[in-house]
Amino acid sequence: MLEGLSIALIVMHFITPSIYYVIARGWLRLSSKTGSRDGLTTEPPFVSIIIPTYNEAKVITQKLSNIYLQDYPRDRFEVIIVDSGSTDGTMDLIREWVKGHGDINVRVIEEGVRMGKAHALNTALRNAKGDIIVITDADSTWLRDSLRNAVTWLVNDCVGAVSCNKVPRTNKDVETEYRNYYGLLRIAESRKFSSAIFHGELAAFKRDLLEKIGGFPTDLGADDSHTAGLISMMGYRAIIPEDVKCIEYVPSKGYWTWRIRRAQHLIQHFLRFLRYVLIDGRDLPRDYRQIMLYESYLHLVNPWLFVVGLVLIIISAIHGALIPIALLLIGAALLVIKIFRTWVMTQVILVAAAIRNLWNKE
Ligand code: GDD
Ligand code: MN
Repeated sequence: MLEGLSIALIVMHFITPSIYYVIARGWLRLSSKTGSRDGLTTEPPFVSIIIPTYNEAKVITQKLSNIYLQDYPRDRFEVIIVDSGSTDGTMDLIREWVKGHGDINVRVIEEGVRMGKAHALNTALRNAKGDIIVITDADSTWLRDSLRNAVTWLVNDCVGAVSCNKVPRTNKDVETEYRNYYGLLRIAESRKFSSAIFHGELAAFKRDLLEKIGGFPTDLGADDSHTAGLISMMGYRAIIPEDVKCIEYVPSKGYWTWRIRRAQHLIQHFLRFLRYVLIDGRDLPRDYRQIMLYESYLHLVNPWLFVVGLVLIIISAIHGALIPIALLLIGAALLVIKIFRTWVMTQVILVAAAIRNLWNKE
């Protein structure tokens, strides 16, 4: 009985994502549905690039130089840095960099007290002049054409937001493998309607839509993904196209806590979404609803099938049941395969994150 249940849980755990993966691969063929890119034939739109900073002395100079070298006319964008009381000399480095680069429009807002990233973004938004608002984390860099490509997609009327594919700079093979798998899903979902997840390394929004939803949400971790979600719920697409890429510097110290924190944010994002749909009864575009229900299941429920199934298998094995013992041995052997190892770790991270969310939502 226990044995049967445990095997059923594990089988179900692997079947649902496999089905979603096959469906998503099908969506990849929908390439043209996003609508043609209108290009930047006329004058490029004015863009406000917002960088929130808290103790980013290690990376801020490189970040500013990276933006400086973007293939986008320098008189068509401004950079707004919102610093929330950094204590590591970030502000001195910014001032020094600005002094040496008179031909780019950089404004600095100092908040003094740290009130979180989303709060800083909203401060910047109130001061921004652009029709397009791009947010970007200090610890990431763009390719030369990232901004131009993102803005080009946004020229389409049906597109409300654009984010990037993340190329991780890391020595952790688990991170690279994770990105390959999830990156494909992001692109596929974007072809169908919208990506379920957005990335703070580069997230571009139409300003009027941001204002309609009341700015960036300050009461949950995934400000980037949730903002994209709110825009999608209004019927606009929030996409991650293949040609917008960005490099993310993955911390090697504290990697696992970093992964758990991010997973916590995603769980908050999907839980809030479920509340909109199941409790508030809000209406949303059919395709988007399908994507979000699948992803909510995969992030909120599916990892538990694995963990509970595994515990039950171990219990059955201890009682001497042969199939569970065989399954455990096969599972252990499969851990040498990178994609399997990555998958298992991601499930454990999601479960740990759900538990940690009970007392710490930071
Ligand atoms: N002004 C200000 N005030 N900036 C802040 C604050 C704050 O209180 N807290 C963080 N930041 C800045 C950081 O300096 C960085 O530029 C950016 O916000 C992202 O912070 P990270 O600390 O690098 O976040 P992360 O890499 O762990 O989290 C990632 O995922 C989150 C969603 O799960 C990032 O992509 C976040 O942007 C994203 O919200
Ligand atoms: Mn970061």
